[in-house]
Parts: sequence; structure tokens; C-alpha cells
Amino acid sequence: MVHRPAGNVGPVDVPGIDPAHIPRHVGCVMDGNGRWAKRRGLPRTEGHAAGEDALFDAVEGALDLGLGWFTVYAFSTENWRRPVDEVRYLMGFNERILLGHRDDLNERGVRIRVMGRRDWRVPKRLIRLMDETVEMTRHNTGMTFTIAFNYGGRAEIVDAVRQIVRDGVAADRITERSIRARLYDPEMPEPDLVVRTSGEYRISNFLLWELAYSELVFTDVLWPDFRREHLFDAVREYQSRDRRYGGLTDRDDRGGGG
Ligand code: FPP
Repeated sequence: MVHRPAGNVGPVDVPGIDPAHIPRHVGCVMDGNGRWAKRRGLPRTEGHAAGEDALFDAVEGALDLGLGWFTVYAFSTENWRRPVDEVRYLMGFNERILLGHRDDLNERGVRIRVMGRRDWRVPKRLIRLMDETVEMTRHNTGMTFTIAFNYGGRAEIVDAVRQIVRDGVAADRITERSIRARLYDPEMPEPDLVVRTSGEYRISNFLLWELAYSELVFTDVLWPDFRREHLFDAVREYQSRDRRYGGLTDRDDRGGGG
């Protein structure tokens, strides 16, 4: 049960969550749609379809928490290897989701961004819709909801390096900062927390550069069953951890770790 303060501004009072230490940016690897469907004897696409409610309940949870940034892995550079019918379904699915939710998100001040490669395989109509949606919500000042689409962490680093070469930066002038500045969204803060569903303990090429110091929370819940409560659980877990960034905290006088 979430208690919304009068005025509905900023984070709400979620039991067990310290509003002073809400992660600024949470990333989410939505996994397990296919298994969810298989367990029910349904086609995989039904699992994706059921993932829509999960996604928007999680978005509500992110808004409840007052997150600044919420990023979801909607389609990876590896997802092209799926059967052609599933890929086609996912393209249409992403289009329907954007069309179906963007007005509501826009009215609520959410800024929508898309990160990933725009290659010839992505239908032009979807690219147009994404561009329109990003433009439509550009000036919103609420949460930034980023859709990682045709996204791969390695591809993002490769693209940044290509840009460095195009910019004519000399080899010994290349720093972490110059790479960071050429990632798909240099404004995006590094995620404090990344959640992955479905009991898989992998990163699968999600935000590779950005998550160097992120807390990782894995849950067995399959994506279509994920709800804001699971996001709150992940934030509680995050708040129970001790982030050191390779240094020491007051609570640690033994050194090491990161
Ligand atoms: C992984 O499950 C899930 C996906 C490949 C798609 C997730 C996408 C959404 C919920 C829609 C996002 C759209 C927007 C516009 C934000 P899986 O098929 O890999 O499941 P499995 O591992 O059980 O096979």
C-alpha cells in the first residue's frame, strides 16, 4: 500500500523505503516472457503481450518512487536472431505500446527517450513514431523513461569509439570521459540499480559501460508477473547495500572491494 502525500509531488511514502535514498536511475532487463507463455501452453507472443501490463505497472511504481530515470531493455541487438515471426511481432508490439501509452505519459510529464542503433532492419514507421514521441515529450521535466531498442552495450561502445575517430581525437587524448560523452545519451546518469527478472543471472549486453558500479538485483519473477511491488522490493534490497565505488565507507575499515 502506497501513501501519496497531498499534492502528489515527489516520491510517495512506500513502506520500508527511505525516500532520502531513492536511486536516481533504475534499469530493467525484462526477461521471461517466453517461459511465462510456455508454462501456460501459449505462444511466446502471448508472453510478450502480457508483459505490457507488467511494464506499465513498473512505470507507475517508478513514478510512485519519484525516480528521475527509468530505462527498460525492450529489444536487444541479439534479438534479431529470434524467429522472423517473433521479431515481426515485437516490432508491431513496440509500435502499439508507444502509440497506446505516449499521450498518457506525456500528460504526466514523462520524457521519453530511445537509445539504440537505427539500422535498416528497424521498420521506418517505428523509427518515425519513436522520433515523434521523443520530440513530443522532449521538454517534459518529470521522469525520463528510456527505451533501449535495438540496443547492445558493446554496439554502444563501438559507436562511441567510431565517433571519437570521426572527431579526430588523438589516441593519447582518449579518456573515459571522452568515451562517456559519446555514448547514446551522455546526459543519462549511470544506473544506481539494475533489475533483471526470470532467474537469469546475466547482464546480456545491457548498459555495459554505464553499469560499472550499479547494484544488480535478480529476481525469479517472470516479467509478465512483475508488478511495482517487485520494483519496490528491488529498491529495498538496493537500500540495504553498501555502495563503495572501490573506496571505503564509514562502516568499512578493512579496505578492498568496490
Ligand atoms: C524477454 O523475454 C522480453 C522481450 C524480448 C521483450 C520485452 C519487451 C516489452 C515488454 C515491450 C517494451 C516496449 C516498449 C515500447 C517499452 P523472452 O522472450 O526473452 O523470454 P524467455 O527468456 O522466457 O524466452
